[in-house]
Amino acid sequence: MPVISAPHEFNEEDLYVDLEPVFGTSLYLKCEGFNFAGSVKLKAAVRMVTAAERAKALVPGRLLVESSSGNLGVALSVVAASRGYEFVCVTDSRCNLSTRRLMEALGARVHIITEPEAEGGFLAARLNYIRALCASDSRYLWLNQYANPGNWAAHYASTAPAIVRQFPGLDVLFVGAGTTGTLMGCARFLREWHRPVRIVAVDAVGSQTFGGPPARRMIPGLGTNVRPAILDESFVDDVVHVSEPDTIRACHRLARRGFLFGGSTGTVISGAIRWLAENDASGATAVAIAPDLGERYLDTVYQSNWLRDLYGEDVLQPDELPAESLPT
Ligand SMILES: Cc1ncc(COP(=O)(O)O)c(C=O)c1O
Repeated sequence: MPVISAPHEFNEEDLYVDLEPVFGTSLYLKCEGFNFAGSVKLKAAVRMVTAAERAKALVPGRLLVESSSGNLGVALSVVAASRGYEFVCVTDSRCNLSTRRLMEALGARVHIITEPEAEGGFLAARLNYIRALCASDSRYLWLNQYANPGNWAAHYASTAPAIVRQFPGLDVLFVGAGTTGTLMGCARFLREWHRPVRIVAVDAVGSQTFGGPPARRMIPGLGTNVRPAILDESFVDDVVHVSEPDTIRACHRLARRGFLFGGSTGTVISGAIRWLAENDASGATAVAIAPDLGERYLDTVYQSNWLRDLYGEDVLQPDELPAESLPT
């Protein structure tokens, strides 16, 4: 019986969904949404805050500030509340309303950027706002998840070792790329492991993390307009880009089977299924990481009007992925 006294002390690390019955391909989905922040970002938040405390950069009276599309903001709100720090989250107009409310309920202040920069989009605008804030008041401490080694170190220490404990024959790992913390931590750990594992990054079409032209992206979590400083592509074997309609179809297919996951999970699964088919790797031991659950996306990914307005009627039609086996 786990009994905890701080919210970060509980995290379900060993839960997987077998996706074969849903997508007709052998693929295991590691669920990272079962903790008090509801996402994989709790690990990065705890690691970065603890490192700042140890370095004496974070002391009582300082104000934490961070740019987040939502989930790190919630995770830092949880950790800041639990440890007695004030926290300001700088996000943008694509942040889900429920995520914003969650942060505010936890005592954080949320600043919404509404105008993207011509060069670098919303992310550049968020980072410029934080730089100006820090320059105006020395009490602000910016953890900067895009450059902070604690972001990837959290996954090097926990996520990747947990996966290989359960899958000692792991052949390929699919990881969505946002700040690339999860990707880089897992990739760095597996590079040192005793057997080769292919690391496949999954990104959104229109993201500039791995190059390519920018395009509109409405689903938060994956993708950037500014290449993250912690990304080292020499650790990544392949990159798959997934369109938002394909992301949504994968989410809806899971929801029809009772699994409500967040948008980026649909991206990762859609990219993984395509990669496994294109690389003739259907016999491989394959794992994908699900960063969060679906309740924060009820007004977007799971809302027909929002979907029709943005992507047209077609997005609500069944996908072209391999046929699912129906439950008996
Ligand atoms: C829903 C969701 N998916 C994926 C990611 C990407 O994780 P990472 O920043 O470790 O690349 C994030 C990051 O915030 C996220 O919130």
